[in-house]
Amino acid sequence: MTTSSLQLKPAFQIKSVSATEKDVNVIWKDGHNSFYHNLWLRDACRCEQCWQYDTLSVDYGNDPLEIELNPKTERVQIDERGNLDVIWSGKEQGHHTNFDASWLRAHCQEEQDKVHERQLWDASLDIPKLDYPKVVTTDEELFKWLDALYQYGVAILEGAPLDGDETSLTAVTDRIGILRDRHHPTNIYTLDTTDEVAKTIQSSYKLTRVPPHTDYTPYADSTLTQLLYCLKYESESNGKDGYSTVVDGFNVAKQFKAQYPEHYKMLTKPSVPTCRRRLRVEEVGGAAITKYQLDMHRLNTIIDLDEKENVRQIRYKHNTRAPFQAPHDQIEDLYAAYKAFTQFVEDRAYTKEFLLEPGQILSFDNARILHGRNEIGSFVKRFVIGGYIKAETTRSRWRILLGKQSGLSETWLTGCSDNALQLLAKRAA
Ligand SMILES: [Fe+2]
Repeated sequence: MTTSSLQLKPAFQIKSVSATEKDVNVIWKDGHNSFYHNLWLRDACRCEQCWQYDTLSVDYGNDPLEIELNPKTERVQIDERGNLDVIWSGKEQGHHTNFDASWLRAHCQEEQDKVHERQLWDASLDIPKLDYPKVVTTDEELFKWLDALYQYGVAILEGAPLDGDETSLTAVTDRIGILRDRHHPTNIYTLDTTDEVAKTIQSSYKLTRVPPHTDYTPYADSTLTQLLYCLKYESESNGKDGYSTVVDGFNVAKQFKAQYPEHYKMLTKPSVPTCRRRLRVEEVGGAAITKYQLDMHRLNTIIDLDEKENVRQIRYKHNTRAPFQAPHDQIEDLYAAYKAFTQFVEDRAYTKEFLLEPGQILSFDNARILHGRNEIGSFVKRFVIGGYIKAETTRSRWRILLGKQSGLSETWLTGCSDNALQLLAKRAA
């Protein structure tokens, strides 16, 4: 698919262009008007002097110290393929930039400022389900899965082998990228209700209820995609023993903010230390292996905001917290805020409860989704394996697949924001 063979929506077709002293003004066929500063355009030059086509990066010859702050254009026009063609003058003479029109539209200031809202959800969520065999074999289903993770933060793969093993799990994780190092002899963990040693090492291996939480709170980077592959669930009870729970942390934060703005403000500041101390690993039956020993500590922000004050990440886990850190006169307020937030996290109205069945793989975004499970009764046998992928690895695969959908050249796809890629993927009429 090339730009010339693709029929584009009017929003991606240039109607007219004109140059002013400092800008290029583009009027699009949907009636929108965009202004691009000459300096910004000059910096984005993809001529042979400025851009390395083999490495897809800026050439060191495109020296920011050398570019004028007010570069001048000599000729600005629409070329025969509908793209913006600029010949530069003055000190910038010799540079000739042909801007992909769709790329320009996706970089219009107004488009850049748009926030692509995620789908927030509560207990009524119908968790998106994808087909395991298709995810393993087709990019189409792989994208549907990753896009569901982007939109909802949670998705289930169905139809994984009932007699599967680690290779059945890595068959899907390999579609995204490498597993995250788990500071263990293995990067895939095993939750087996019959393993007595494991229960002494990690609280979530015990049979008691696991309240909603995010993993890896004491680590600097806990933005992870987590996968949980159920291989066995046998229960002699009619209850919901060992059922899984997920909570949309972004939705909970939104509702919490609306009801308790002051508490919310408090929890958006670093104040809750988390820790993890472990001197042995399950695989060696209690013997210490220095290599995998851990003593972690991190001052956490429960509701972490980005530069635009949108929620970026939830870091919440009861059993890894250390006593809170706040000035003496704020301690009561901080605990009150934490307690109020915990009530939201535990609210059944926000909790999706379900049985993770054999042959299903639960996947979720650990930066957004709190996960847990009901107590496992004595009549339940449950065997689950799981692992993590760094969120940036997952995002990267999602971006590559989005880029392919756009049909843009690799040169113009390089450096596009997620917003821009989402827009470009839908540019065809
Ligand atoms: Fe967990």
